[in-house]
Amino acid sequence: MSTLTRQCTRRLALSILIPTLALGSACTDSDPVGPDPIPSEPGDAGPLNFPGAFTSLWTRSVVQQLELTPTSTLGVLPQTNEQILPGYWLWDSWPVRTPDGAIARIGEWYVLVSLTAPDSLLPGARHGKAELRYLISRDGEDWQLGARLFTDGNAEGSAQWAGSTIYDPATNRITVFYTALGFADGTPADDGTAGESRQGSDQRLVMVQGSATSSASGVTLSDWGLHRVIVEPGGQYYERKSNSKGIWAFRDPWFFKDPRSGRSFLLFTANLSLGGPNSDSASPAGVRFWPTAPGVSGVESNAAGMRLFGSHGGETPTNGDPSVNGVVGMVVAENDALTSWRKLPPLIAAIGVNSQLERPHFIVKDDKYYLFFSSHEFTFAEGLNGPDGLYGFVGDSLTGLYAPLNGTGLVAGNPTAARFQTYSYLVLPNLQVVSFVGYQNLGGVGLDGIGSQTPEWQRDRFAGTLAPPFSLTISGAQTSVSGFNGTGFRLLP
Ligand code: FRU
Repeated sequence: MSTLTRQCTRRLALSILIPTLALGSACTDSDPVGPDPIPSEPGDAGPLNFPGAFTSLWTRSVVQQLELTPTSTLGVLPQTNEQILPGYWLWDSWPVRTPDGAIARIGEWYVLVSLTAPDSLLPGARHGKAELRYLISRDGEDWQLGARLFTDGNAEGSAQWAGSTIYDPATNRITVFYTALGFADGTPADDGTAGESRQGSDQRLVMVQGSATSSASGVTLSDWGLHRVIVEPGGQYYERKSNSKGIWAFRDPWFFKDPRSGRSFLLFTANLSLGGPNSDSASPAGVRFWPTAPGVSGVESNAAGMRLFGSHGGETPTNGDPSVNGVVGMVVAENDALTSWRKLPPLIAAIGVNSQLERPHFIVKDDKYYLFFSSHEFTFAEGLNGPDGLYGFVGDSLTGLYAPLNGTGLVAGNPTAARFQTYSYLVLPNLQVVSFVGYQNLGGVGLDGIGSQTPEWQRDRFAGTLAPPFSLTISGAQTSVSGFNGTGFRLLP
């Protein structure tokens, strides 16, 4: 960091404490404009040797244009009560992949990891009891239970939430990334032991490795090593739960080996650290936002002290409610063992726009990076509307600039007649999209009215199973969706 830039950062920090210093012209001369090496957090080793360190904005003016169109609206699924895993609700799911991102085969089997919970629970209670199970299939169509991934008390957290799983055919090693839920605020950092059972809604990213063997009767995943907490919220960019003033997340680690740099990354769902006296950094995140056109000069700062590079048409990230602060976060692996990770600035920030950009993941196509995530109707900021659906951005490099697909970011939304029928989308390399079936046939009942219905009503309307896939067509920054392919779930390579 140059001396000038350091002075500028300090001045921004002071401006939070002394509002009269708040800003406008404070940092215009000394800040770099355009891509530079990804900065490290204080104390980290040197910067990464590839350009781009700017966060792309999902802005209010873009989202105000958002509407369901014929090419972004999913069809209505027939109501189903048939569960792919009888006895269990099943929701977020991901196929085991090889390090290059292709769908893996372990012996003759495809393997799919899912969040599951006994269907004796009310559907809304499943999140607090989520357990990882894997399903296996020879043909991608007929699925059977493999096993529970980790036995009681052997995983981190009181529940395990979404992640990703990588199988290396050369070594038979399997690497599971998942979210540990339930570490109460204020408790000490991970002590290296598994089996934390205190309940709560704090979240951390965990990695564990084991070995995979297969036979004619199935796949065995075993020999698990230490469940290692690899990334926790906090630091320069990512808000801690205790600092949140809104909906908060730090979860859904998704492994990605970048074909260009050869480096390993995790994407995750998080919230931007907005700075201030209770935050880890006095200055908001030190995140720099991309100009609308790379190379545009000039730096603005908004009232919260965020630095904006270039012009956003007068729009600042805090035009809306700043406690609505969802981001797609990223860390880079610092060793081959994948035990050490460095936090990078978020790729996308939706400040004043949306508080949860869930299960982010990449597809690389035609040398472009397509970044997808799921989001809910209820996590959009006041005054903005978007369906429960799949959203996406496209960039020419891993670190952006990212532009919203279809001009608004909406890729596939549930239809107004079935607003909560599918969720938690995963775009596979073949552009088939995996999701689960949630609530169907709600009549006029909204999400917040479900809990006051009878248990039978709630169970009857929640499917808790995998949806038939639908296909995406992608051409540059435009996408379109097909209808659902068939009536049952299929995983096709
Ligand atoms: C999306 C999601 C994930 C989370 C899981 C918890 O469906 O909210 O972000 O890991 O569900 O059940």
